[in-house]
Amino acid sequence: MSEEERKSYIICKNIFHYLCKNTFEMQKIKDYVEANKDRFLEELFELLRFPSVSADPQYKEGVLNTAEFVAQKLKDAGADKVEICPTAGYPIVYGEKIIDPSLPTVLVYGHYDVQPADPIELWETPPFEPTVRDGKIYARGSADDKGQFYMHVKAFEYMMKENELACNVKFMIEGEEEVGSANLGIFVNANKERLKADVIVISDTSMISLENPSLETGLRGLSYVEVEVTGPNRDLHSGVYGGAVANPATILSKMIASLHDENNHIAIPGFYDDVLELTEAERKALNEAPFDVQEYEQDLGVQELWGEKGFTTIERTGIRPTLEVNGIWGGYIGEGAKTVLPSKAFAKISMRLVPNQNSERITKLFKEHFEKIAPKSVKVEVKPHHGGEPVVTPTDSIAYKAAEKALEDTFNKKPIPTRGGGSIPIVALFEKELGIKTVLLGFGLDSDNLHSPNEKYGIENYLKGIETIPLFHKYYAELSK
Ligand code: BES
Ligand code: MN
Ligand code: MN
Repeated sequence: MSEEERKSYIICKNIFHYLCKNTFEMQKIKDYVEANKDRFLEELFELLRFPSVSADPQYKEGVLNTAEFVAQKLKDAGADKVEICPTAGYPIVYGEKIIDPSLPTVLVYGHYDVQPADPIELWETPPFEPTVRDGKIYARGSADDKGQFYMHVKAFEYMMKENELACNVKFMIEGEEEVGSANLGIFVNANKERLKADVIVISDTSMISLENPSLETGLRGLSYVEVEVTGPNRDLHSGVYGGAVANPATILSKMIASLHDENNHIAIPGFYDDVLELTEAERKALNEAPFDVQEYEQDLGVQELWGEKGFTTIERTGIRPTLEVNGIWGGYIGEGAKTVLPSKAFAKISMRLVPNQNSERITKLFKEHFEKIAPKSVKVEVKPHHGGEPVVTPTDSIAYKAAEKALEDTFNKKPIPTRGGGSIPIVALFEKELGIKTVLLGFGLDSDNLHSPNEKYGIENYLKGIETIPLFHKYYAELSK
């Protein structure tokens, strides 16, 4: 379609929408967002100013204050039974509005904790001082996940104020997602009755673009390990001993390099055994999503992409498992040069998993393999961290259809299903413990710099999200009848 054709298509579509019966609701929410957008932004900025880094104990106060703020905002918006529920770690903020037990219940999950901001020197503006540039809000947590879960709080405020609530709503906003949600499973298990719902909605994923709305229909699982390679019993003078003793940093590098073969397949025996292969038709559908290799390369500043032979980039980041080194260190890394043969070298390694891989099994395979390939000259220790299971969310459910309709209303285009590369381990757990499926109603972009310096979230994404959510509730209630 040419730009001209696209424009006239959009105009025709707008006229059509104007004439149909949903126009009134759409216009009403649009007007509300328009009238309140400055306040919606100001409140989000306030939320973003809290440094809620769950990984770093130095920010404990910041994390706890964020929970207080979220609870207050839920109360202000009209939620009942708002509670800051303590856990062995950071608390979970709960709130609900039950308008009619015979109506369906939507459980909103999100996280108020954020990733560490470092390397802090690479931020153009301070990570906890939200700044708008070019229509985007720059701040740690803007897209992941404060800006996204807060859309639900504001959409709820609208539905309460304007008497438009179509479903019962429950909120569960946690503070430990970025460190593995270790205490959430315990909370879910102990609160099964309170958390009873018909569907879980999570806005913590990406869409392709504002022009190409999409819905993620799967998340990868995660195995995460830390490895420690020990050579001599102390750091040595690299001149006196170098050449006679294995250097653990060299050995570790070689071991890591051997984990991918020449086709960039993962060379751990049994690693692919349980991988669910997609049919040709499914792969074809997946690859129909708009994707511009050049734009992707340019955005990342790389000359060429890399990955498993025989698969496209969309497949490599969506339906294929991967192994990445997240960090590697050892020996002298301070100023200047110190001649030393280190005693130890370390790495943190993550593996993204796809259906039907299992994180415990993969961690075990990794450990066995890594210990086996270690030469006698070193000792190897593999320490498992948190894990999570992969999920695929249904596209034939009422909830998915409601999300599709709501997005089509606000974006004038039917969203396409995609597979997300990231992980939200709680999704598989919710399904197992509560028997409830999830809809991943994400409004971020992959290029929002999640977990990187200069994280950002588009103002338009934020406001469009607030517009879409009440429509989701409305359609979900209607389709549930
Ligand atoms: N929101 C992300 C996950 C995500 C991002 C899914 C983009 C799909 C698209 C979440 O906060 C996250 O970062 N999860 C971690 C896993 C967790 C166990 C630390 C991840 O994916 O690394
Ligand atoms: Mn997140
Ligand atoms: Mn994250």
